[in-house]
Amino acid sequence: MNKLVLVVCCLTSFDVAANDLFAKADLDAGKALIEKNCISCHASSYGGDGSEIYTRAFHKVESSSALVTQVRACNTNLDLKWFEEEELNAAAYLNKQFYHFE
Ligand code: HEC
Repeated sequence: MNKLVLVVCCLTSFDVAANDLFAKADLDAGKALIEKNCISCHASSYGGDGSEIYTRAFHKVESSSALVTQVRACNTNLDLKWFEEEELNAAAYLNKQFYHFE
């Protein structure tokens, strides 16, 4: 039911870039992937839970498509072998939690 509401909201939004990209993303799956594979390294440079890397003043990622590109680059660099769907789940979670692109 929640998913249906989300889809309807997305369809009626005018600013659809991120909504389109992330419409089918599974946020819980994305969160689990990030927690497992990504946080410890960010946390070792930035402290805490590492999330400051996303919210720091001069953060690199400035759009939802750049976010997907960055997640994809990390996936490739780290040789995690995530599927595209998993990259989108992870990016959608980061967007919802930190970046808030529309
Ligand atoms: C081995 C360490 C390491 C791991 C593991 C790692 N990252 Fe990163 N990540 C970094 C560093 C260092 C930067 C900052 C790069 C810079 O400032 O140019 C970064 C930057 C980022 C950014 C951009 C933040 C911004 O400035 O907006 C995102 C998004 C990101 N990482 C996502 C991920 C994801 C998703 C994963 C897991 C697949 C991951 N990272 C795993 C080290 C890591």
